[in-house]
Amino acid sequence: MNKVRHFKSLLDINKNEFIRIIERSIEFKKESQKNILNNSLQNKTMAMIFKKNSTRTRVAFETAMATLGGHAIFLSSDTTQITRGEDLADTAKVLSGMVDIIMIRTHNHSEVEELADNSLVPVINGLTEKYHPCQLLADMQTYYEERGSIEGKTVAWIGDGCNMCNSYINAAKILNFKLKIATPSGFEPDHKTLMLAKDNVELCDLPGQAVEDCDLVTTDVWTSMGDESESEKRKQLFKGYQINQNLFDKAKSDAIFLHCLPAHRGEEVDADVIDGPRSRVWQQAHNRLFTSKALIEFLLNESK
Ligand code: CP
Ligand code: NVA
Repeated sequence: MNKVRHFKSLLDINKNEFIRIIERSIEFKKESQKNILNNSLQNKTMAMIFKKNSTRTRVAFETAMATLGGHAIFLSSDTTQITRGEDLADTAKVLSGMVDIIMIRTHNHSEVEELADNSLVPVINGLTEKYHPCQLLADMQTYYEERGSIEGKTVAWIGDGCNMCNSYINAAKILNFKLKIATPSGFEPDHKTLMLAKDNVELCDLPGQAVEDCDLVTTDVWTSMGDESESEKRKQLFKGYQINQNLFDKAKSDAIFLHCLPAHRGEEVDADVIDGPRSRVWQQAHNRLFTSKALIEFLLNESK
């Protein structure tokens, strides 16, 4: 048996694997458009632990399992023994003897690591405060569909140096694109993540510098889950980091806009941009389904 493959962050896959997952996601999308049935996950089950809210991630993984002939079990943190103090290590040992794959969305990244270290089956990070690797698969699929390879292209990240920003840094290193980041002071991305991708990342003082001549412009909410107590403070500090038409116009004329969603129009992005002709956010959200299928298939095949 191969070593169990986990997906704790994008650093768990290499460039070829990343591209293979994107290409497979595009194939899954084509199969779905042609109503081709695929039962490759028949009799497989996935446990999905959610300690934070979700719309896309839950529906994407649950639908991916169901439409490939398998089954997903939604475990809300409120109703499991985890909330009553059962160790994640014990939870991993129990669940991984029953299901084929586990997904967790939680606060601390160390919880994903603890689960993976004690699991006999692949563990997927469905978002932590540090990374959101599943979302990057969908973002990269969307870019590939729209513009082809992202290698050598330039991406602008504007706003909070949050989990999404850290995952963009990982993607820049693996897929070899340039990432220009503009955040308010004190909201920079994770230092270690940044250091691993020094050659691909540039920190800019101003959003305008970051967006200039970019091929892809992206952002995320100013207040991520877990940071709610800072919401009002952040609204003040992040003024000037909104992606509005004026800022977006500094990017290349064929640049696209992406946002992992949920979005707050009038805060990190103006309606003109997110609802405008070069926004691809709905395609990006729908691609969460196809990348979920491709990721599950990849992890199960690689762990055989
Ligand atoms: N983008 C994303 O992960 O959305 P959800 O929080 O709705 O899962
Ligand atoms: N940065 C956001 C992403 C939500 C999908 C959060 O963590 O809340």
